[in-house]
Amino acid sequence: MKQLLKHIAIIACLLSILMLSSCAEKDTPTPGIIAGFSQLGAESGWRVGNTKDVEAAAQNAGIQLMMRNAEQMQENQIKAIRSFIAYQVDVIILAPIVEQGWETVLTEAKDAGIPVLLIDRDIDAKDTSLYAGAIGSDFLAEGRRAGEFLMKKTEGMKSVRIVEITGTENSTPTRERTLGFRDALGGDPRFDITISVSGDFLRSKGRECMENILRETRDIDMLYSHNDAMTLGAIEAIEAVGLAPGKDIIIITVDGEQGAIDLLKLGKINCIVECNPMIGGQIMELVKKLAAGEAIPKKTYSTERVFTEWDEDLMSIPPRGY
Ligand code: AHR
Repeated sequence: MKQLLKHIAIIACLLSILMLSSCAEKDTPTPGIIAGFSQLGAESGWRVGNTKDVEAAAQNAGIQLMMRNAEQMQENQIKAIRSFIAYQVDVIILAPIVEQGWETVLTEAKDAGIPVLLIDRDIDAKDTSLYAGAIGSDFLAEGRRAGEFLMKKTEGMKSVRIVEITGTENSTPTRERTLGFRDALGGDPRFDITISVSGDFLRSKGRECMENILRETRDIDMLYSHNDAMTLGAIEAIEAVGLAPGKDIIIITVDGEQGAIDLLKLGKINCIVECNPMIGGQIMELVKKLAAGEAIPKKTYSTERVFTEWDEDLMSIPPRGY
């Protein structure tokens, strides 16, 4: 009998060691946190990569994520937020499609005592207590980086005719990438932004915009496109009329999707300003703090870089994952 008890004790001990070591491989689970995530859509590879990254990070952190895809409609985001409030989630994660129109629903969240974390884009609200904090890119800096590359690239040129395809109207990246770009050009009279149209961050619209522009004029030195999806569409349109992107027309784009990196390597894109969607891990750290009732910084910026045709290590860029 004594011998049997000893064997049982050894087996129990081994089992608990096994269980502990398998737990150690994952992040410590955060029991009970439920986060509602209103994603604005699936308009680009960037967005799809961002959604996947947030979902994977939530799983890794042991946070239960209720994800709603708003399919580019603010009213769907508002409905999603109301459903999260009804469900009494611990934290609401919101990637707002546009900057205006959030006061009413975010006041409802505040009254329900649910903290809101903005991700990717910002909102324009006088009352900044409507959200606990925000994490995303410095879109103004992205616009400036695009302008700075153009300044270097066109040294010695007497005039530069620019076409701009912007993203979704009234969204933070469109507003700030527009401002930052012009800011970097600093009013230099050589630069003439002859056409600026919105392609809504969609590949199909990027192509359509460029087709329309090329029907009007071929006198274009440079394309500044606010995201890679639109750039890939625009490049199809440029090639369809027999022009060489990256040579006949300087191409500057934003994001850093794998498809754009591949075209940079082929010389069809001259500069990519990175916009980093892989911020899921940082988001979950902030969610945990908010769920624990802790304060978080009002704004956290993600780390980003620029890829250009002059980089020596282009061939060793690791797979982008989006
Ligand atoms: O808000 C970030 C932007 O939204 C990305 O540049 C773009 O690809 C996405 O649609």
